[in-house]
Amino acid sequence: MKKSVVFLWAFMMACSALFAESIPMTSPSGKVNLSFNLQNGKPTYTLSYKGKSVMEESSLGFSIKDMADFGLSYTLTNIEKKSVDEPWTPVWGETKTIQNKYNQLIVTLTDNAKTPHIIKINFKIYDDGVGFRYEFPEQENLMHFIINDELTSFNLTGDHKIWWIPGDFDTNEYAYYTSKITEVEKKTQKRDGNIFTATPIAGSFVQTPLMIKSAEGIYMNIHEAALINYPCMDLKFDVNTFNATTTLAPDAVGNKAYMRAPAQTPWRTIVVSDDAREIIASKMILNLNEPSKIADATYIKPMKYVGIWLEMHLGVSTWDYAGSQSASDAGGEAKKATKVKHGATTENTKKYIDFAAENGFSGVLVEGWNTGWEDWFGKWKEDVFDFVTPYPDFDVKGLNQYARSKNITIITHHETSGSVTNYERWMDTAYRQMNAYGSTALKSGYVGRIIPRGEYHDGQWMVNHYLRAIKKASDYNIMVVAHEPVRPTGLHRTYPNFMAAEAARGQEFNFWSEGNPPEHETILPFTRIMGGPMDYTPGIFKIKKSYYIPGAKEQVHTTLTKQLALYVTLYSPVQMVTDLPENYKAKLDAFQFIKDVAVDWDDTKILLAEPGDYLATARKAKGTNNWFIGAISDENARTMTIDFSFLDKGKKYDITIYKDAQDASWDNNPEAYKIEKMTVTSKTKLTVNVARGGGFAISAFPKK
Ligand code: NOJ
Ligand code: CA
Repeated sequence: MKKSVVFLWAFMMACSALFAESIPMTSPSGKVNLSFNLQNGKPTYTLSYKGKSVMEESSLGFSIKDMADFGLSYTLTNIEKKSVDEPWTPVWGETKTIQNKYNQLIVTLTDNAKTPHIIKINFKIYDDGVGFRYEFPEQENLMHFIINDELTSFNLTGDHKIWWIPGDFDTNEYAYYTSKITEVEKKTQKRDGNIFTATPIAGSFVQTPLMIKSAEGIYMNIHEAALINYPCMDLKFDVNTFNATTTLAPDAVGNKAYMRAPAQTPWRTIVVSDDAREIIASKMILNLNEPSKIADATYIKPMKYVGIWLEMHLGVSTWDYAGSQSASDAGGEAKKATKVKHGATTENTKKYIDFAAENGFSGVLVEGWNTGWEDWFGKWKEDVFDFVTPYPDFDVKGLNQYARSKNITIITHHETSGSVTNYERWMDTAYRQMNAYGSTALKSGYVGRIIPRGEYHDGQWMVNHYLRAIKKASDYNIMVVAHEPVRPTGLHRTYPNFMAAEAARGQEFNFWSEGNPPEHETILPFTRIMGGPMDYTPGIFKIKKSYYIPGAKEQVHTTLTKQLALYVTLYSPVQMVTDLPENYKAKLDAFQFIKDVAVDWDDTKILLAEPGDYLATARKAKGTNNWFIGAISDENARTMTIDFSFLDKGKKYDITIYKDAQDASWDNNPEAYKIEKMTVTSKTKLTVNVARGGGFAISAFPKK
């Protein structure tokens, strides 16, 4: 039920120049204070948290192509203020309901050009941060225009510690850096050669979501919300002032954004708290997105899924029919391996469907089922896949039927290889075929340089494509998981068939590169996942690749039980059960956690958190009283204490703890674990030893 309490004390003021130089606005509790300022016709804002300045005078506005007089000097022509409290219920999510409570300030600015232009800046001030966006109302002197640059800046108060990846218009698949702001440029000089399509920006550039911690212990996260019909934002630091300015991904001819009034930009978001846990728990980015536009969401179902996927990443089977395309080809390891063959055969797919059915998983991803993989990698070729023609050894119709008979959906894979023009031509046909066969979910992929040639993954054209695909899929009642799209900005509130995205360095890097350092998964929730769920693909039991390919050095940089914990700490309504069925069958006791763990939740508590160090999260499974806890560490061993006070008072719970064995560590003995059972209440505090690169998982069921 949606309860909406809107107090409106809006007052309109048609007034003249410099009515107010400074308009303060506080959050509902008063913790967060924003001030909008207009000095000498230039708009700026400042921000403070609990009385401490966190953003100094930061610029606002635009430079517009071929309009030199645009926004040179503004006059404040209107002010609106209101308070809003509109809790809502997500289709799926981390909590049953979401509070959406803020104070709003909308300023209207009119410039002094010969034919004046009007912009509005819409600020929403929450107790966990601030979002603001620009609006271009319908007006006489501004209709079609091209944005040269957005002038928004985030003027930080010092050389803070930041968790970041380098600015890049094509990829988010970097490992995270932790450094001072002034160290960004030096650190980005060494690039990751395993990222195939990268367009790094030279200089002190970082991507968002950017995680920040000040010397005073104030945490901040800068990102954007509701990225629609606009390019994605990177940030450029001035290392003398610590001021970060907006850089928009350009298009093929160097323009940033094509606008037509009435129009608006995405929200610029600053989440702030002196408690790291509150950054992860923030729902501000979701709140800044529009309510769901999907009227009948009954086809949208969170799920765990298995798939023909890891085989190719390990290099033990291939995407293509002829048996040459696997992810490990680059290192030549697939060729060294003895039994390399096509993965997506009818027989192999049946095996996965059966395994899913036996264990209660509702999806089976199949990659390499369709023709085109011979040509897919690195060719920048337009017509590669048709997304409907199976290889001769894959019975697409029969397998979909077989899956449906067991209440399972095949997750149809649409790798575009970056040829988006081609995918756009095929989307309707492909989705219609999925409807005809009963496949209700698709995984898309955007590996490679984009076609239309010259466009970037993060430009306005591609931002529009990703959303077009999500909307079209929703017309066909299809759920979407996207790999290599632009980073998410909370659009899954509006389009809840957009289940998850990759858009960061996923588990796959552990199989064919130096991989993801043990701290990686403690950073993701503070960065990439601030914008939306990630399809990380957890659950690896065979940690070292040498098990399959003698001599291989690659490995997952965690222990086995940390892989279990990731199902809870890395939020997503779709979670892959990633390892090969035989590896789970060999460890049924640990596999039990993956079978039990939920993917949709009524409640979430972030128990312990520090970016780059550790994280512990407890979640209550939807419609039940069962709790699941995940706790992870970085490269350090540590003890972590779980305070069970979130459990119902006076009730007893049977818990199972899946933890690192005493001599376990990610590098030396990663698969050693121990399982213990005990009874706890809301008064229990449980201290668990965590290995280097380790973690633990707990399931808690009310005692019968
Ligand atoms: C990269 C994706 O992240 C991965 O999941 C997929 O298997 C390959 N591309 C092939 O599409
Ligand atoms: Ca990827």
